[in-house]
Amino acid sequence: MTILDRRALGPGRRAVDWNPTPVGNGAGCRLVPLPKIADPRGNLTFLEGRSQVPFDVARVYWLYDVPGGESRGGHAHRELEQVIIAVAGSFDVVVDDGAETARFHLNRSYTGLYLPRLTWRELGNFSSGSVCLVMASLPYSEDDYYRDYDGFLAARAAEAAG
Ligand code: TYD
Repeated sequence: MTILDRRALGPGRRAVDWNPTPVGNGAGCRLVPLPKIADPRGNLTFLEGRSQVPFDVARVYWLYDVPGGESRGGHAHRELEQVIIAVAGSFDVVVDDGAETARFHLNRSYTGLYLPRLTWRELGNFSSGSVCLVMASLPYSEDDYYRDYDGFLAARAAEAAG
């Protein structure tokens, strides 16, 4: 289901607005500058858990060969933290913490985007040949997903209520 399909479902069912007006501080997400070893032979960037990112990296995965116009994501995680990097090309990440949304355009292989737990995210506007690299704090578990936006909002509300 594309973002436009979700939006057509109505306000109670849709995910974040694909092009929201950024509000506040990035919905709890932040850009993470990574080291860049500039070299005439080609540049090098690295990432070490607990140094450049605030967690031990338990899993790495990457998205590639994304067809034009496609979107990924459309979910939140109960416990998982992530850092997303456009190691090639560019794409947009729209994040939502239940109270505010923000849109990040990632197009540098030396800049990551940190997403804390309980962040709804959608990725889109992938450029041709782009590669989205994701560092994750936990192994894959479907139980960690909120794939229903209303369920995510309820979890956020429950957490805020203590
Ligand atoms: P999903 O996280 O929904 O993809 P995206 O958010 O990029 O749209 O995962 C898509 C499928 O891949 C789903 O069936 C779960 C599986 N998957 C794994 O098996 N291991 C993983 O580490 C990830 C990220 C996904």
